[in-house]
Amino acid sequence: MSNVTVMDHPLIQHKIGIIRRTDTGSKDFRQMISEIAMLMCYEATRDLKLQDVEIETPICTTTVKELQGKKLAVVPILRAGLGMVDGMLSMIPAAKVGHIGLYRDPETLEPVEYYCKLPADSAEREVFVVDPMLATGGSSVAAIQLLKDKGVQNIRFMCIIAAPEGVKRMQKEHPDVDIYIGGLDERLNDHGYIVPGLGDAGDRIFGTK
Ligand code: PRP
Ligand code: URA
Repeated sequence: MSNVTVMDHPLIQHKIGIIRRTDTGSKDFRQMISEIAMLMCYEATRDLKLQDVEIETPICTTTVKELQGKKLAVVPILRAGLGMVDGMLSMIPAAKVGHIGLYRDPETLEPVEYYCKLPADSAEREVFVVDPMLATGGSSVAAIQLLKDKGVQNIRFMCIIAAPEGVKRMQKEHPDVDIYIGGLDERLNDHGYIVPGLGDAGDRIFGTK
């Protein structure tokens, strides 16, 4: 069963309080999403594997640590996931970035795929899928399946707000994928929105609607 980590860092909790507020405008909303992604990235990469390498300092030869294997890849689920990319890259500047375009059909709540472009060597990388919202789980389950179908094996999922229904579905469909959550909310409403949530993340980031 996948590990589920709910972030308890005070800075993350404080910033989530700001994005939930109706009176937070797009400029501040975007800024907060980016900062939360950066802090979550720091926490979610604690267990990355290191290897010893011998280097020269100006004084002598010594052994230092460096990340093992290929650098990571970040894959936002469009659109709202785009808001998390800068924050992730500020922690891992060498990461490659792929994009998966999915939107939720407002009637059926089922994800509809419209775009997919991944780094050529994704299958050899640890891939962080990012999306601010995990509601029914339809979008994240579909995005991760798409990655698996292309041979990606090491996948983690990071979201800022999650509903218990979505977490349960992710654990059922992708038990091998660890999940990192900023705030775990109460439930979904009849329209598939997270309660208390923050409304429509894509619209709030991009100022649409
Ligand atoms: C939102 C959100 C997730 C999805 C979550 O995207 O960013 O991708 O809904 O819901 P789910 O867990 O029930 O699938 P949306 O479909 O609104 O598209 P957008 O990012 O383009 O606004
Ligand atoms: N997508 C969002 O942007 N918000 C929700 O509450 C649910 C899905």
